[in-house]
Amino acid sequence: MKATALANSNIALIKYWGRRDDELVLPANSSISFTMDEQLSTKTTVEFANGLASDDVYLDGRKATEKEYARVVSFLDLVRAKAGVKLKAKVVSQNTFPKSAGLASSASGFAALAAAASKALGLGLDGKGLSMLARRGSGSASRSIFGGCVEWHAGKKKDGSDCYAEQISPPSKWKDLRNIIALSSMEEKHIGSAAGMGITAKTSSLYAARLKSVGKRLVEMRKAVRKRNFEAMAPIIMRDSDSMHATMLDSWPPIVYLNETSFRIMREVLALNQSKGKYAAAYTFDAGPNAHIYTTAKYAEEIKRMLAELPGVMKIIECKIGEGIRFSEEHLF
Ligand code: PMV
Repeated sequence: MKATALANSNIALIKYWGRRDDELVLPANSSISFTMDEQLSTKTTVEFANGLASDDVYLDGRKATEKEYARVVSFLDLVRAKAGVKLKAKVVSQNTFPKSAGLASSASGFAALAAAASKALGLGLDGKGLSMLARRGSGSASRSIFGGCVEWHAGKKKDGSDCYAEQISPPSKWKDLRNIIALSSMEEKHIGSAAGMGITAKTSSLYAARLKSVGKRLVEMRKAVRKRNFEAMAPIIMRDSDSMHATMLDSWPPIVYLNETSFRIMREVLALNQSKGKYAAAYTFDAGPNAHIYTTAKYAEEIKRMLAELPGVMKIIECKIGEGIRFSEEHLF
């Protein structure tokens, strides 16, 4: 009744921001991402056992905070309900990146937890089933079940049975792609994504316009991914990130994740593209100020040099495209 799983983080090209159902974590729009390499990953061991009086949760070598604990336990409750058991569990989870680095990812965390917990209870879920389970912990976690380029289908059904993730292009096709990450803040975000997207959906008048325009971007992105055409992908990546952050700023109270360094990086990427006369790179930002610059191997060194000179950039990580979940016999306890 013990299992260990590893999952990597993912960074969306078409973002998930807003839900059609909060309880089931059904998104308002489909989203598309790339799964990152092992530099941004979580390893989690789960053991369900007789004789445990309560769940026990350790993250990165310390006891989980009250908030983290509550989120993990309510996820374990879902897995227990699926398996029809009441056993309590011990959960130990380790990130390959420091949580304080501003890269803490609920995506890799809940993907690894879903895979380890469901395996420990012998649920026998396939990738689709795992993505539907991981989704309940954190929407973006549904995409981290798979490697390469992944689409999370919003679906239409009320019960969420058509809402799942699937791989649309394997990592072997993206050996040349890079995500250069520029960390410009080590702080925890001022508002969590679930709360933030709720405020946006309720208060932003731009939000309806975003949902209207995202459908076209999805169609164009699928086509560009199929053709492995980075130059076609780049402007869509940047415009979708801009669109999401515009609805955040248009929310009330406004949600501002980007900082001065983020905006400086946006300008630098646009200038780089201008100087090359082509789309050599594309910026994108999640619910935080850290820049993710998608580019090809050819421009990676130049972009890293540019970032290293910018005030406010604390750390630079060059990520490749990675695999989906893996199971391991090397348990954490
Ligand atoms: O999975 P959550 O609830 O942390 O939401 C993630 C939202 C964004 O990172 C901003 C966008 C995305 O699609 O990953």
